[in-house]
Amino acid sequence: MTIWKTLSAQHEKVADRRIDSLFDDAGRAEEFSAQAGDMYFDYSKTNIDAETRESLLALAKEMGLEAKRDAMFAGARINETEDRAVLHTALRNLDGGPVVVDGEDVMPAVLETLAAMRRFADEVRAGKYTDVVNIGIGGSDLGPAMAVRALAPYHDGPRCHFVSNVDGADIADTLHGLDAKTTLIIVASKTFTTIETMTNARTARAWMLDHGGDPKSQFAALSTAEDKTAAFGIDPARVFGFEDWVGGRYSVWGPIGLSLMIAIGPKAFDAFLRGAQAMDVHFCAADLNENLPVLLALVGIWHNQIGGNATRAVLPYDERLGLLPNYLQQLEMESNGKGVLRDGTDTPRDTGPVVWGAAGTNGQHAFYQLIHQGTRVIPCEFLLAAQGHESDLAHHHQLLVANCLAQSKALMQGRSLEVARKIAADKGFEGDDLERQARHRVFPGNRPSTTLLYPQLDPFTLGQIIALYEHRVFVEGVILDIISFDQWGVELGKELATSLQPVVEGAKDPSQEDGSTAALVDFIHRHRD
Ligand code: F6P
Repeated sequence: MTIWKTLSAQHEKVADRRIDSLFDDAGRAEEFSAQAGDMYFDYSKTNIDAETRESLLALAKEMGLEAKRDAMFAGARINETEDRAVLHTALRNLDGGPVVVDGEDVMPAVLETLAAMRRFADEVRAGKYTDVVNIGIGGSDLGPAMAVRALAPYHDGPRCHFVSNVDGADIADTLHGLDAKTTLIIVASKTFTTIETMTNARTARAWMLDHGGDPKSQFAALSTAEDKTAAFGIDPARVFGFEDWVGGRYSVWGPIGLSLMIAIGPKAFDAFLRGAQAMDVHFCAADLNENLPVLLALVGIWHNQIGGNATRAVLPYDERLGLLPNYLQQLEMESNGKGVLRDGTDTPRDTGPVVWGAAGTNGQHAFYQLIHQGTRVIPCEFLLAAQGHESDLAHHHQLLVANCLAQSKALMQGRSLEVARKIAADKGFEGDDLERQARHRVFPGNRPSTTLLYPQLDPFTLGQIIALYEHRVFVEGVILDIISFDQWGVELGKELATSLQPVVEGAKDPSQEDGSTAALVDFIHRHRD
């Protein structure tokens, strides 16, 4: 029997078992939790037991996880369809020694670029700038945008704004009210060809010219394509380059993180890198059964591929991590949303789950109803800091903590029909009506969740969290035998948008399009000035 089959059989065996019954074992919480530094991961409120964990670990080993992890860190070309190494870890390898790609140590160049970023960030922070606008999309936007918001208490630099959407509303609303003379525009694009980013960059340049700014001295670029940044007219002294072995969604650690460095300063940015590096060291050194990225991935495989739960909710009880679910959508869904195995044959099982979520407690008053009583089981992933930054508002934090812990408890415990009947009776319902009312108040419970705890959301911790999720994606990809580092699925839409542009503009006949598209174009043409 393959391990996949063993796991399915084990899943079937425990399907009716209540998670809370597992706590009859007084050691459950300790045995089904792990720590990396002072980050604590609790997966005891899942239906995983020692036997299934053994099988999951055996699966990871059978798929060659350790050797594949070491190959990634050593610069092997594991992004096979693009023939590239995957070395975002080198960007935070502040004191980890050489990293060799094609016979050359990449670390001197990485550290040189980091030093240039620090000098530039210091200049910007000390200079005339009041505002910084990062123009980028996908990985050139989500990482810095999420991190800048997450680390708001550490901001002592100019205000940072992010423009990503090609919808003119995005850049118009962002530039509105900014002073073109004191605004720095950062064009962030690995390829420097992305249509949204280049369109927004040209619009920003025109705005700056029209409003008395100087694009020659007030534009910087973050890209692997230095020929293209030069063609755009950006002074090479303000171009921060990186190599093709940094994937877009893994790029916040290098030049793409410049806006974050400007916001919080080079020292705090270093702490951010060091947090990620600490997670890299943990991932490489900790036993698999104590290894946070591995455990997160195994819980994910148990719920999605084995248990058939197609979505996973990421629920940070940390307002400043409000963009984490968006960030993880790209990280996880662009990485592991694949239909074929590494060898190009169809995958025999589902790949990455749909990842979604929002900050608690807001979600509680929106979609948690479905999580508690809906017909689909949605594994939940809670994140929570032991303390907030607002020491004068500590009572808020206590409430936040109580709410977070209450949710995972409620999901596990549920509420039986018997208890619901008593509640309905206490409210004065009787007979058939009591039964009906009670049934609406039943919570099935037995819904799995995990909780990630950390002392406080500081730069080091944020680095740990992001690196943890990056490695989780890697582990899931290895177990699923897919390539996590390409993204061919984004190409077709881009190509069709380019060919539809003249149709939308009215320069090409829409009747050549499929009937639906032609009708949509026709409506748009009839309803615009
Ligand atoms: O369209 C997907 C994508 O290629 C992402 O992988 C990437 O992060 C984003 O576009 C932006 O690409 P670039 O940094 O080259 O503008």
